[in-house]
Amino acid sequence: MHDVLVSARGLEVHFPTGGRGVRKKAGGVLRAVDGVDLDIRRGETLGLVGESGCGKSTLGNALLRLVPATGGSISFDGTDITGLDGRRLKELRRRAGMVFQDPFASLDPRRTVAQTVGEPLEVHGLRKGREKAARIGELLELVGLDAGVAARYPHEFSGGQRQRVGIARALAGEPDFLVCDEAIASLDVSVQAQVLNLLRRLQDRLGLTLLFISHDLSAVRYIADRIAVMYLGRIVEIGPAAAVGSDPQMPYTQALLSAVPVPHPALERERQRTVLTGDVPSPSAVPSGCRFRTRCPYVFEPCDDVDPALQPVGAPGQQAACHLHGVVGTPVTRTPEGVTAEP
Ligand SMILES: Nc1ncnc2c1ncn2[C@@H]1O[C@H](COP(=O)(O)OP(=O)(O)O)[C@@H](O)[C@H]1O
Ligand SMILES: [Mg+2]
Repeated sequence: MHDVLVSARGLEVHFPTGGRGVRKKAGGVLRAVDGVDLDIRRGETLGLVGESGCGKSTLGNALLRLVPATGGSISFDGTDITGLDGRRLKELRRRAGMVFQDPFASLDPRRTVAQTVGEPLEVHGLRKGREKAARIGELLELVGLDAGVAARYPHEFSGGQRQRVGIARALAGEPDFLVCDEAIASLDVSVQAQVLNLLRRLQDRLGLTLLFISHDLSAVRYIADRIAVMYLGRIVEIGPAAAVGSDPQMPYTQALLSAVPVPHPALERERQRTVLTGDVPSPSAVPSGCRFRTRCPYVFEPCDDVDPALQPVGAPGQQAACHLHGVVGTPVTRTPEGVTAEP
C-alpha cells in the first residue's frame, strides 16, 4: 500500500459549448476531463504529459478545486474535497497550490516581490510585521534568490528569476501539494534545467508532492518518479518514469516518445516507428470506443466500439488502456503494418 495524498475517481470536467442564452439547448458538451481515476502518492513527483488540448491543465485545476468537477470525486489527504467550501476550502488553498506557466503574466507588475510572496502569509494569517518580512526573506533564499530583492518589481527580473518568485509565493503557505503547470515552458532552455533542478531540490527538502504538467516528455522523464499520459480527457498510460519513458505500452505514448530523440540505436529504431499524424480530435466529439483509434497505427477490431480500461501491463506498476494488451483475451503481436493474434 502506498500513502496517497491526492486522488480522483471518475473525475469529469465537461464544459457547455455552442448555444448561449435562449439558444442554450443547441449547445453540446466539451469533455476536457472525461473519467479520470488517479492516485498521487505522498512525496512523489507525478509527471502529466500529453499534447496541447488533452485536458492536462483542466485536470490540474480540478484537483485544486480551481475549476468545478461536473462528475466524480476528488480527495485530498483522506478527505473528500469535491464539495468543500468556506473555511475548509481556504485551508485547502493553503495546503495545495499552483505554479503557473507564465511568470510574466502571473505576477502583478505593480506589486513588489515582498507583496507578491507575502500575500499568502496575510491571507492565511500566518505571519505579521517583522516575522512576515523574515519569512519572505527565507522563502526567497529557499528558491535561490537574494533576500534583498524583496523590494524590487517583477520587470527588474529575468524569466527564470520571476519563475523563482512564483515558486516562493506558492511555497509561502507551506503546502503539501503543488501543481506545476507548464512551469518551465516559457523559459529559455538553459534556464529550464535550473528551474527543474530547483523543483527537485525543493521537493526533496520539503517533502512536497508534485504534479508536474508538461507537453514535453523529456522534461517529465527528467523530473518525475511516475508518468501519467493523458489523451482527450483520459489517462491512457501510467507507471514508473523509467518504464513509461523508455518502454511505453500504449501507442499514443510511443508516439509522444517518438518525438524525443534518443542516443541509442535500438531505441532510435523503435522511435521512428510510431509517428503521430493529424491533430487531436475535438474534445466535444470524442471518438467512440478507444479515443485514440482515429490516429492509432495499430487500430483493429475492438477499438471502434470498446473503450479500453487501464490494466496492468509491462513493468511492475505500469498500466495502459489499449486493446493490444488483450482485453479480448488474446495476446497480439503489433507491427506498424497491422496486428496479428498470436497462436
Ligand atoms: N473554461 C473553459 N471553457 C471551455 N472550454 C475549456 C475551458 N478550459 C479548457 N477548455 C477546453 O478544454 C480542453 C482541454 O484544455 P486544457 O485543459 O487547457 O488542455 P491542456 O492543458 O492539455 O493543453 C481544450 O479543448 C480547451 O479548449
Ligand atoms: Mg495546459
